[in-house]
Amino acid sequence: MKSIQVGILGIGTVGSGVFNVLQRNQEEIRRRAGRGIEVTMVSRRDVAKARELVGEHAQVVADARAIIANPAIDVVVELIGGYTLARELVLEAIAAGKHVVTANKALLAVHGTEIFAAAHAKGVIVAFEAAVAGGIPIIKALREGLSGNSIQWIAGIINGTTNFILSEMRDKGLDFDVVLKEAQRLGYAEADPTFDIEGVDAAHKATLMSAIAFGIPVQFDKAYVEGITKLDAADIRYAEKLGYRIKLLGVTKRTPQGIELRVHPSLVPAKRLIANVEGAMNAVVVQADAVGTTLYYGKGAGSEPTASAVIADLVDIARLATADAEHRVPYLAFQNDKLSDLPVMPMSEVVTSYYLRLRVADQAGVLAKVTGILAAADISIDAVLQREADEVGGEGSTQTDLIILTHETREGNMNDAIAHMQALPTVLQPITRIRKEELS
Ligand code: NDP
Ligand code: HSE
Repeated sequence: MKSIQVGILGIGTVGSGVFNVLQRNQEEIRRRAGRGIEVTMVSRRDVAKARELVGEHAQVVADARAIIANPAIDVVVELIGGYTLARELVLEAIAAGKHVVTANKALLAVHGTEIFAAAHAKGVIVAFEAAVAGGIPIIKALREGLSGNSIQWIAGIINGTTNFILSEMRDKGLDFDVVLKEAQRLGYAEADPTFDIEGVDAAHKATLMSAIAFGIPVQFDKAYVEGITKLDAADIRYAEKLGYRIKLLGVTKRTPQGIELRVHPSLVPAKRLIANVEGAMNAVVVQADAVGTTLYYGKGAGSEPTASAVIADLVDIARLATADAEHRVPYLAFQNDKLSDLPVMPMSEVVTSYYLRLRVADQAGVLAKVTGILAAADISIDAVLQREADEVGGEGSTQTDLIILTHETREGNMNDAIAHMQALPTVLQPITRIRKEELS
């Protein structure tokens, strides 16, 4: 059978990985796909750099639209990134009847509904395995491997850059900025690294997993997003003392009230496997009714790990391109006309447990006032740790840290309780609140 002809829009970190792995493994890939997969055109504004990457093996163009306009190209692989140009190019490729593969989670989390509708109308495939957790085949697992289950919740370390930063800060005592620069050098970080450190990239990925797990439209605008920039090294240390690690988690959960969709730093019991996922590695835990708990672990970023996922999509397209559109796996796992209107819940309605750190005056009665406020808000305490004042502020200090772990409560209740505690004259600094996920 004739090889499929692929054009890569944006041959950078991921694009060059796709090109190299396809070259290296072409015979094995052909045996799997039943036909060859050939990159015949690539685009990049720096044409000399692109030429350096692909030699004479593919045509190099500066204008990505030249690839879309070429009738010989069957599949367009979008690896430019971003929301604006990428959206235009993907919609133009679909309109031209090309199948599309993309690693661009930002694009799909924000414009997925429009893109999937256009692709459905045109009968073309839009595949995006690389968009969530890089090389881990989590989209395939959720969309196909677990399709007999009712999925209950998903929790994942789905941003390699922030996990790398948290690991290096904890283990080597390195500064945030130093580790971020290293993550950029290694090709993990997004073009705009604030997307990584402010939790936006993880929220893009959580949004996609949520849509596939629960059969709802992609709704990034409803996600709660909090990154790691406000984390204090003291909280990482206190969490360790209490038997927890702090991880940036993407969580999505089905509840009777709707769907939780949130990204924030979380205390995770140190004994959980996911708490021991270090460096740029990613891991996703899925809880489903029939299979129980499953865990997916691997490289969530980097040139060839991400290329591995892009190529898996190309193999799927090579196999399925000739099948009727209605016999293909739906974009979001559920048939396109059977998506659910389950609401994504506001954060104030989410129920979880908490770690609180209060910098307080080291005086009698302070703990009683704080616990009284929590009791009045119906928030039950799980554990309390009080540091010696000398340990916190040096010899003779009159301040101390009070660390409280709570049982589950509504976030709205916790917001009220924090406001009351913050108003106490003996509470001397803004209260730190980190959510806690037992993942049991
Ligand atoms: P890079 O910045 O390394 O590559 C993007 C490439 O696009 C650059 O080489 C750039 O080259 C080219 N480009 C930019 N504008 C244009 C344009 N107008 N026309 C043609 N080419 C253009 O990004 P990555 O490879 O890291 O990421 C690509 C996508 O994959 C992003 O969506 C990212 O989120 C996603 N992703 C990345 C992962 C990773 O580990 N890096 C992992 C998972 C997903 P030039 O400036 O010369 O044009
Ligand atoms: N910037 C992303 C990360 C790349 O650090 O995980 C993979 O999506």
